[in-house]
Amino acid sequence: MENAFSDNQDRVLIFDTTLRDGEQSPGATMTLDEKIEIANLLDEMGVDIIEAGFPIASEGDFRAVQEISRCTRNASVCGLARSSLSDIDRAGAALKDAKRPRIHTFISTSPLHMKFKLKMQSEDVIDAIARSVEYARKYTDDVQWSPEDGTRTEHDFLCRTVETAMRSGATTINIPDTVGYTAPSESAEIIRMLRERVPGIDSVTLSTHCHDDLGMAVANSLAAVIAGARQVECTINGLGERAGNAALEEIVMAMRVRNDIMPYATGVDTKRIMQASRSVADATGFPVQYNKAIVGKNAFAHESGIHQDGMIKHAGTYEIMRPEDVGLASTNLVMGKHSGRAALRKKLEELGYDVGENRLNDVFVQFKALSDKKKEIFDEDLIALMQSSANEAVDEHLKVEHLRVVCGSIAPQTAELTILVDGVSHKVESEGDGPVDAAFNAVNKVFAHDAKLLLYHVQAVTEGTDAQATVSVRLEENGRIVVGQSNDTDTILASAKAYVNALNNLLYRRSKTAPNQVSEVA
Ligand code: KIV
Ligand code: ZN
Repeated sequence: MENAFSDNQDRVLIFDTTLRDGEQSPGATMTLDEKIEIANLLDEMGVDIIEAGFPIASEGDFRAVQEISRCTRNASVCGLARSSLSDIDRAGAALKDAKRPRIHTFISTSPLHMKFKLKMQSEDVIDAIARSVEYARKYTDDVQWSPEDGTRTEHDFLCRTVETAMRSGATTINIPDTVGYTAPSESAEIIRMLRERVPGIDSVTLSTHCHDDLGMAVANSLAAVIAGARQVECTINGLGERAGNAALEEIVMAMRVRNDIMPYATGVDTKRIMQASRSVADATGFPVQYNKAIVGKNAFAHESGIHQDGMIKHAGTYEIMRPEDVGLASTNLVMGKHSGRAALRKKLEELGYDVGENRLNDVFVQFKALSDKKKEIFDEDLIALMQSSANEAVDEHLKVEHLRVVCGSIAPQTAELTILVDGVSHKVESEGDGPVDAAFNAVNKVFAHDAKLLLYHVQAVTEGTDAQATVSVRLEENGRIVVGQSNDTDTILASAKAYVNALNNLLYRRSKTAPNQVSEVA
C-alpha cells in the first residue's frame, strides 16, 4: 500500500462518508453487499475512517454498520448518531464488533437551526452536547462531535460548544459546512479562530466537512487543512446530499500534485481511485460526469491537435499527473477475438480486478460473446463487462431470453419478448411510444408491479457506432430504491436487461427488508 507522499509531512486523515452522507443523496441507496464491497475497497485503499451509516435511521443502516465493523481490517469504522441517547445506543450496538469503533454525534448550533429545527435554547444545546459526548464515551474512546451548520454558527457560541464537547471527551471536532455556504477564506478563518481561542484544542483532531452547493467543497476543505484541520470528510465521486460532498479523489490528488504548496500526506493508495469511483457509480447508478476532475472519462483525454502534439513531445506539457497514478491503465491495450484467457486475466488485473478462476471463466465466456459482436474490446468494455457480471450476481428470477423490436418512423413501435420467470419461458408482445417503452411494456405484461421509474440513463462505453451501451434504470417502490444496469452493443436489449436487473434487485430487496424507514437525517 502506498502511504505518505514523502516523509516529514503533516498527516491528514481521510474520513470517507460515501456510505453515510453519500448514501443520503436521493436515489443513491446501496444494497448491503454493495456497501460491504465499497467498504472493503476503502479499507484496502488506505482510508483512515469509514463512516458506514446512521444506525438508528433504518434496519438497513444498522446492518451495514454492523457488517462493515466485522469485516474492516485497518480503518476505524464510524456510526453517526444525533445527540439522543437512543441514537448513541444504536450506534454503539452496531459498532460492537469493530476493531476501531468511532461514534460521531452531532447537534445543530446555528441560530437558525436551533430556533426553527431544534426549537431549543442555546443552554439546552450545551447540555445536550455534554450529555451525548459523555454517553458515547461509554461505548468507545474514539468520539467525534460535530456542530451541524457549524459554518453559520456565531463564533463565541461555536467556541463554547467545542469546549464543552472536548471537556466531555470528544477526540475529534468536526466543523460541517452543512449547507455548502462557506468560502475558502472563511473556512480557514473558522479553523484558525478555534485554534486561537479554544484552550487545549491541539489535543483533539480538527476536521472539516464541506458540501458543494456553491462548487467550493474541495477548496473549502483544503483551506481548512492549510489552517490546521487534520481530518477531511469526503466521498468518492463527491456523492452526497444535494450538490454532494467534497470529492475524496480531488482532495487526495490536490495534496499530492500540489505538495509544494500543500505539504500534507494521506494514507490513500491513489492507484485504487478509479476502481473505487467505478464501484460507487455502479452501485448507485449515478454516472460520473465526463469532465469530472480526476475520475471523469475526459480527465486524461487529449483531443485538440495542439495538445496532442505537446503530449507526444512531453507528457508534462498538458498533464499534471499521470493516469497510472489514479489507477488508469497506462496503455489502452486493445483486446479482441483472439485474445486468450491469460491475456484477459492480466488485463483485468491491470484494471484493478482480482478475479478467481470461476469468475474468470464466466467473464471469459462473456468476453468471447462480446468480441463476436465488436471487433476491438477496450478497457472500458471490460470494465462494463465486469460491472454487469457483478450485477447479475443477485438471484435472477427474471431473465431476458430474446427480444425483437420493430421501430422507426411508422408508429407504433412493437416488442416481442421471451422472458424466463423462475425458469419458465413466457412469450409476449407489446407496443409503446418508442422501442424502449415497447420493451418495458412487454416486461410489465409478464411481471406487473407498482414500482415507479425514477431514472433511465444510457451511456456509450466507448466511441464508435458499434460501442456498447451501459443502461442504468432506477426504480422506487414504497421507499425502496433499486438500481439495475446492463451493457450490450444493442441499446434496446441493454435497456430491457437493465430494467429486468432492477426488478430482480427489487424482488431481492422485498425478500430481505421492510420498506426503507424514512427518517429525519442530517
Ligand atoms: O453536513 C452535515 O452537517 C453532516 C453532519 C452530520 C456532519 O453531514
Ligand atoms: Zn454532510
